[in-house]
Amino acid sequence: MERRAFTVAIDGPAAAGKGTVSRALAAHFGFAHLDTGLLYRATGLRTLDGTDPVEAARALRAADLDDDDALRTPDVAQAASRVAALPEVRAALVDFQRAFARRGGGAVLDGRDIGTVICPDAEVKLYVTASDEVRADRRHRELLDKGHDVTREAVLADLRARDARDSARAAAPLRPAPDAVQLDTSEMSIEDAVATAIAEVTRRMG
Ligand code: DC
Repeated sequence: MERRAFTVAIDGPAAAGKGTVSRALAAHFGFAHLDTGLLYRATGLRTLDGTDPVEAARALRAADLDDDDALRTPDVAQAASRVAALPEVRAALVDFQRAFARRGGGAVLDGRDIGTVICPDAEVKLYVTASDEVRADRRHRELLDKGHDVTREAVLADLRARDARDSARAAAPLRPAPDAVQLDTSEMSIEDAVATAIAEVTRRMG
């Protein structure tokens, strides 16, 4: 039996809970999951040694996404946000994301422009947000757990700087697709956020 394509597009600002919701949806429905932020992080990481960002994006390989610890540092997050503003970097990463989205058996992609640019025809679109304070608290705890020595204020400033850059850029800025369902997780438990997302996907699967 042919496995049909079904795309779930999840967008939103940094540390809003996109990753948690995406992984839970993928596990629940047996869909593949792509954290598209890793593509920009892996590109950004390569530029830290002086590599040209467009060259770095074009040379990206699947194995470059494997070293989660190296990709999830605050410096790499900022580098990712900077290279993500370059239209040629974004263009180099489009085909891979679209092919992933339309693979058989279903796919969840999370990022900033999935519902607006990468998969405007996605069967389900969610826009996951939370207040700045809540997002900073969550990301701060995550980084401390991984042994990073950062203050909550530095994390908050980092998130705000990235959100401002990601929203203000001309190429595929962060914004909800007009047909996205908004999910504000500020005062929600992880379980409630996941349950709401699962209900939405179930409804659209008909
Ligand atoms: O989701 P993240 O925090 O790992 O993303 C890191 C940066 O990559 C983010 O600040 C902006 C950029 N990004 C993007 O421009 N488009 C995407 N689809 C995903 C991430």
